[in-house]
Amino acid sequence: MTQSSEVHLTSRPQGNPVATDFEIVEVNIEDPAEGQVLVKNIYMSVDPYMRGRMRFAKPNELLMGGAVGKVVASNNANFAEGDYVSNGSGWREYFLSDGADLSKVDPSLAPLSAYLGVMGMPGLTAYGGLLVTGEMKDGEAVFVSAASGAVGSVVGQIAKIKGGIAIGSAGSDDKVTQLAEEFGFDHAFNYKTADPLEELRRGAPNGIDIYFENVGGAQLEAALTHIKPYGRIPICGMIAHYNDGDTLTPGPRNLMETIYKFVHLKGFVVSAFEDQREQFVQDMSGWLSSGQMKYHETIHEGIENAPGAFMGLFTGSNNGKMLVRLAED
Ligand SMILES: NC(=O)c1ccc[n+]([C@@H]2O[C@H](COP(=O)([O-])OP(=O)(O)OC[C@H]3O[C@@H](n4cnc5c(N)ncnc54)[C@H](OP(=O)(O)O)[C@@H]3O)[C@@H](O)[C@H]2O)c1
Repeated sequence: MTQSSEVHLTSRPQGNPVATDFEIVEVNIEDPAEGQVLVKNIYMSVDPYMRGRMRFAKPNELLMGGAVGKVVASNNANFAEGDYVSNGSGWREYFLSDGADLSKVDPSLAPLSAYLGVMGMPGLTAYGGLLVTGEMKDGEAVFVSAASGAVGSVVGQIAKIKGGIAIGSAGSDDKVTQLAEEFGFDHAFNYKTADPLEELRRGAPNGIDIYFENVGGAQLEAALTHIKPYGRIPICGMIAHYNDGDTLTPGPRNLMETIYKFVHLKGFVVSAFEDQREQFVQDMSGWLSSGQMKYHETIHEGIENAPGAFMGLFTGSNNGKMLVRLAED
């Protein structure tokens, strides 16, 4: 028997999530039965998409999400004690699995935490969203919002690797400086203090080919105005709208721009890029080892701080991938 803590949602958040929407619950986990493994999670991920799921959560529902952990006891021939596995059973310290939901990860290719960020779901989202949905061609001008985040920072760097122009927006001057100086963006601006349309005109005087949409609202409106004919807008997320209640965050007023410019807006979910995963892992591990791809992480310590980490996504308290460390390796 193993004692474990896990996070439950006590109530569906109304507007911005608050601490009282969450509860830490102590549970006892049985020893693994035949065919099962016991996994100790080491890092768990908090992601903006989880806010969407919370709209439909049942009372006191156990939260789910990405995590990487270690097999600490095994009764399954496919897994040995000490194997590292990524899984969808985050928000808890320990869990039992029959192995079907586990993928082994190789800590010699990248640090464990990177499998929840640049080498994991957010990295694949950026890769597929830009190259498959966005159909980026070498040398094109790409604007990405939430550019210093887990997805956005990868989008901008892939755009640079492909010989393009990268323009990014973020919510603080420090993040903007980092985009330009560390991640190599050609132009970056603080969307809280600058006019996005003016900034796009400055960063790409001839227009943008792609707007990688992470935010929604005023930035989408500016992108629609400044996008070139036949431009593409892969719609990855719209975080500015996720906490909307009865009052809705205003959307773009100029969708008409899409007509005569033949602009292609296309939503996607990362699961659409499974067929790209092998190529993605190969490309990304190469870019990481050559130093062409950089990343940041904000790591909170302990499961009790998971709700705070999640809430911080909506105030921009993360710099890069937001994670919670649940245990020492
Ligand atoms: N379609 C998919 O399959 C898929 C997969 C993964 C992620 N996504 C989406 O991709 C986007 C980025 O996700 P991520 O995991 O990389 O998160 P992230 O960018 O690492 O973190 C969220 C960031 O969003 C910014 N933000 C929060 N509220 C905002 C607002 N009202 N207006 C503008 N910016 C705001 C904050 O940065 P600032 O300090 O810059 O404000 C915050 O750091 C999200 O929309 C997410 O839902 C979609």
